[in-house]
Amino acid sequence: MSTPATDYRFDRDQSGHSGPVTPERRDLHFLPPGDRICDWHTAGPNVTQFMNALSLLFPAGERMFIDAVRSYRDDIPDPDLKKAATAFIGQEAMHSREHIEYNQLMTDAGLPADKLDKFTWGLLDVLKRNTPRSTPLAATIALEHYTALMGDMLLRHPEQLAGSQADYERMWRWHALEEIEHKAVAYDVYEKCIGRGPRNWLERSGAMIIATGIFWPVVFSFYWQMSRADPQCRAQGLRGHLRMINFNFGKPGYLRRLMPEFLGYFKYSFHPWQQNNAHLLAELDELVDEAEAAYATRH
Ligand SMILES: [Fe+2]
Ligand SMILES: [Fe+2]
Repeated sequence: MSTPATDYRFDRDQSGHSGPVTPERRDLHFLPPGDRICDWHTAGPNVTQFMNALSLLFPAGERMFIDAVRSYRDDIPDPDLKKAATAFIGQEAMHSREHIEYNQLMTDAGLPADKLDKFTWGLLDVLKRNTPRSTPLAATIALEHYTALMGDMLLRHPEQLAGSQADYERMWRWHALEEIEHKAVAYDVYEKCIGRGPRNWLERSGAMIIATGIFWPVVFSFYWQMSRADPQCRAQGLRGHLRMINFNFGKPGYLRRLMPEFLGYFKYSFHPWQQNNAHLLAELDELVDEAEAAYATRH
């Protein structure tokens, strides 16, 4: 991997790919154990189903990200950014592949994963077919802000996953790391190929408001349907839901604590690398070794 530069200075006017790292496609396999799909998270079955609900959005969501960046790839003027866009597409394709396998474990366990996955594909298909070419890319940079922030939170607070089943934990950590590694690529493609004036600020801000208004209701609706179908969550009753709410909004409140960085997106001068968290990527090489070793011992 590229070594994060310690003296990184934000300078997007002189370089097409304005980040301290260049993303790299890594062909890793995880396939976590199916018998833990409903209780892999250390905080219990309800938090497990919340994370599973997020996983259900990835195959269709990441396909939209890939298509949105690919549709502008030939227009990218800068060769470094073009290379980064290719790596972005490769990384999201790997994430999608691994989450499809992960999501299949939910279906195998009798959860309504197929139905919810189809709903997501349908929803994003409507968006893609009924909006101008720039809209899916604007939606992508909005949602990539979320994945980068959630990835940052997960890596800064390893206690969020500590004690969870190791293969699931490793897979989420890998996804978090690569989301940080490529967090500015779609954004830079948008700025270089579409623009960075007031109209563009309005479009990307509007896309964030609409994406937020759709994304969270979908996530929590998926969580609800998954937890209703899971006997372990049903056995927890209200206590289980409260535990999930506390995890996200109370103490520790991992989603609540994203708020200040989230709002930074609406600044006119926003750029994803203004939050320079490249030092978190230092664990990537070790994680790759761990993942390869773990997969080799099981297959
Ligand atoms: Fe991803
Ligand atoms: Fe991403």
